[in-house]
Amino acid sequence: MSTFRWGIIGPGRIARKFAVGLAAVDGARLQVVASRDGERARHFARQFDATRWVEGYQALVDADDVDAIYIANPHHAHAEATRACLEAGKPVLCEKPLTVNAAQAEPLIELARRRGVFLMEAMWSRFIPVWRQVHQWLREGAIGAPRMLSSHFGAALPYLPEERWLDPAQAGGVLLDMGVYNLAMSQWVLGADPESFEVAGLLAPTGVDARVAGTLHYADGACSQFSCNFQVDTDNDFRIAGAEGSIAIAAPFWCSQEISLRQGRHETRISRPLRANGYEYEIEEVMRCVREGRGESESMPLADTLGTLRLMDAMRQRLGVRYPFESQDEAGSTAAADGR
Ligand SMILES: NC(=O)c1ccc[n+]([C@@H]2O[C@H](COP(=O)([O-])OP(=O)(O)OC[C@H]3O[C@@H](n4cnc5c(N)ncnc54)[C@H](OP(=O)(O)O)[C@@H]3O)[C@@H](O)[C@H]2O)c1
Repeated sequence: MSTFRWGIIGPGRIARKFAVGLAAVDGARLQVVASRDGERARHFARQFDATRWVEGYQALVDADDVDAIYIANPHHAHAEATRACLEAGKPVLCEKPLTVNAAQAEPLIELARRRGVFLMEAMWSRFIPVWRQVHQWLREGAIGAPRMLSSHFGAALPYLPEERWLDPAQAGGVLLDMGVYNLAMSQWVLGADPESFEVAGLLAPTGVDARVAGTLHYADGACSQFSCNFQVDTDNDFRIAGAEGSIAIAAPFWCSQEISLRQGRHETRISRPLRANGYEYEIEEVMRCVREGRGESESMPLADTLGTLRLMDAMRQRLGVRYPFESQDEAGSTAAADGR
């Protein structure tokens, strides 16, 4: 099989971790690094042994020596970069959240489907061994139908208002940054989007959400309680209780390596170490899908991405968080999951 050649847009913090994961994937290579800043691209390419680097994203979008592009710039810039790649027929793995809101995602999903080009949001947790095991247990009915979920994603981050996670102009806020994991993994466990929700939060002085807690209610009676915040360290585990048992995913749940299954008095503890840093599994999924000619991944389908974006739109509307570049219509006007 020929080597799968990756391009990277936005060689910043997370792109470094991606490059470490990529180095652990057989048959994959970092081919082209693209940055708005040529010096940054050159430095990154040298550090991670890329074949070449380019200044500006268009040169990568137009390149004929890449098989897929990983987009790793801040939230507000995802839509434009993704559109350019899809229009050029390049398969895309885009960092979470795929876009800032559902209104931005809908036309991109339509474009990807119309052109038959692969597109996936980089919800890497769904592909790591621990969550694969959880999914298998759920499929086998090990705990019966899941009824009660609880999860936390919190970290005491310094208050740096210019950083992307606190900057409204870069679509910061804890919901899009961290809460997206609580929501996307609840969605995966329950195989549905919630019918309604309660949510409360606290805004940072910059106007983005810094702390959010809520409960999601599903049509089958299940519920998921979650919290996410930038202010304090929380337990960061994920628990799933069903009528016949429970599953505990150890912290940090989004890249966990330990799980336990409790059935009555019996407890099974399992360790599932990551081969590298966890990003290798989503990379392998993209390569498999692209090689098989698939437009999306069954494990992270675009309908799931859109469902979570609609939910976050509706939550932000409740919390009073609207980004400066969003119109009233774009921010939270989507019909689904309006919280009633
Ligand atoms: N999967 C995970 O665990 C995880 C963890 C952290 C973050 N993320 C996600 O990864 C993405 C990037 O986060 P990060 O912390 O890596 O970002 P970052 O280091 O702040 O920036 C990454 C790149 O984005 C571009 N960029 C930075 N500021 C920009 C601005 N104001 N306008 C336009 N482009 C800008 C730059 O690209 P150029 O070099 O081209 O200028 C930079 O190299 C986000 O979507 C975030 O949610 C994922």
